[in-house]
Amino acid sequence: MKTRWVSRCESTNDLALSLADDPDLVGVGADEQTAGRGRLGRVWRSPPGCGLYFSAILRPEFSPQLGAAAPLMAAVAAAEVCEGLGVVPRLKWPNDLLLGTRKLGGVLCQAQLDGASWRVVIGLGLNLRAPQGGFPEALHAVALDAMLGAPPPAPVVAARWLEALFAWSARVRDEGLPPVLAAWRRRGPPLGSPLRREGREGLFGGLSATGGLLLETLIGVEEIHAGDVELVSWGAKE
Ligand code: BTN
Repeated sequence: MKTRWVSRCESTNDLALSLADDPDLVGVGADEQTAGRGRLGRVWRSPPGCGLYFSAILRPEFSPQLGAAAPLMAAVAAAEVCEGLGVVPRLKWPNDLLLGTRKLGGVLCQAQLDGASWRVVIGLGLNLRAPQGGFPEALHAVALDAMLGAPPPAPVVAARWLEALFAWSARVRDEGLPPVLAAWRRRGPPLGSPLRREGREGLFGGLSATGGLLLETLIGVEEIHAGDVELVSWGAKE
């Protein structure tokens, strides 16, 4: 098992996808990304010295039918790493890490299916240090250095995340989705937290058995598997 670290690339997800045929390679990190990508076509600002920009290459030993596990376990694993540092983030579906209402990190998954076998590149962007002058307010972002004097170097955080991610992958192989769903729910919003999606209001109804988000609206419960939801406020923990 080996990882590769470069000083600069466009996107570690793209680099990992291009190198994923090497069966020993399990991750690619960069000090800086020039075209870092977020979910839903967003940009992930990736200046040098500020964040962890790292993409794991996972060759899951569980079925692609449990593919919803990948983003959830990536977020849970990242939360576990932060907790190990004494910082306790919360999760917003499917895989945002928040401190208060501010974004600490996010995950971008890209799966490649080849017959019965599959692999998934899981990119983690985690804000370690705020840029000089702070984050643009519009990003509504926060970095670990707001809570910790000196966060560990990015490769150290990456190694801990990979270890946690592989442990979760083995657990999903052995036990299916329930443990990772439970670990996500413990860090997610309280049931009944108000959500907004595409202009519609609803309440957080938990996660479905397949990892979808349950949005309770006046006309029933909607199970969402793609896209985004806006967390209007964080209700009291039940
Ligand atoms: C999001 O919250 O929208 C997901 C952000 C994911 C950013 C990471 S940084 C490492 C990897 N390379 C990318 O281009 N994106 C992911």
